[in-house]
Amino acid sequence: MSEPQAGIFVEGSHSHFFLEYKLIDGVSTAQLKEALAKAIALSDAGVNKVWAFGADCWRSIAPGVCPADLKPFVAVGEGKRIAPATQQSILLWVHGENHSANFDAAMAASTALASVAILRLEKIGFLYKDSRDLSGFIDGTENPTGRGQQLVALIPEGEAGAGGSFVLSQQWVHNLSSFHALSQSEQEAVIGRTKPDSIELDDEHMPENSHVSRSDVKINGVSQKLYRRSVPYGGVLEHGLYFLAFSCDIRRFDHILQSMFGVSGDGIYDHLTDFSTPVTGNYWFAPSAGELSAIGSL
Ligand code: HEM
Repeated sequence: MSEPQAGIFVEGSHSHFFLEYKLIDGVSTAQLKEALAKAIALSDAGVNKVWAFGADCWRSIAPGVCPADLKPFVAVGEGKRIAPATQQSILLWVHGENHSANFDAAMAASTALASVAILRLEKIGFLYKDSRDLSGFIDGTENPTGRGQQLVALIPEGEAGAGGSFVLSQQWVHNLSSFHALSQSEQEAVIGRTKPDSIELDDEHMPENSHVSRSDVKINGVSQKLYRRSVPYGGVLEHGLYFLAFSCDIRRFDHILQSMFGVSGDGIYDHLTDFSTPVTGNYWFAPSAGELSAIGSL
């Protein structure tokens, strides 16, 4: 049994750091592995760390065990409604209850990587109320629970990358004043759920362009389920959702994004994209715990 990185499944953390690094030009694979092995081996009590890698980076580290489907993120959409691609090389997600300990862990890992990679994006995330997005809606209601989390998130035994996971990350910037200018029932029509208690609207009241309608996608009878771990980030000047999701199949992300951005065939786009805008987009591979700890000896 290939054990996943445990931090993927630890829920409810109050403090989050999302760090995206770009490899420095000219760094050799041997240099990269050496620095990564040191950064990964750092021990930080009480801190959850999840490591993931862009396609080019992981293929150079572990060519023999890389899942064939792993690919860089490519922009989705057309015209002004676009989910842009900003593919970087390494993602480190640090989370837990102790913000000071998370800060120290993020600093230590970044110092260990400094000779091989530049920190290109940093978002500080936090738990908002009872797991709500800053729009005020509960985020994660339809997430799988129990054993279902691993079935949805992990590549099965026997396949390349078993125990690992495909990951999508996107920084979304909210326009909260325009969203909050809507009445509560208009906001609920944008999301497709009630605001206080996250009950799905019935068929009669569910718009075809609600977020639920556009993200609840079935392909050939298979529900394109994800294990979402997004949290809000930011402060008063800029804020939104750091969208983070794990999947056993990278194509699920493609299908849902195409549906949200109006390029899945029916021309309908997700009304949520009128109130929030993605400004980054990356696909990653989060290897199993075993493959991660073997990086120094690969
Ligand atoms: C600003 C960005 C986003 C916000 C604020 C947001 C918020 C929400 C909320 C409030 C729900 C309903 C409650 C729940 O089931 O969790 C939801 C559901 C969902 N979202 Fe998002 N979301 C965002 C972006 C995305 C993206 C980019 C994807 C996928 C690529 C996605 C996939 C899903 C899925 C699969 C569901 C469950 C649908 C169902 O089966 O009912 N979301 N989201």
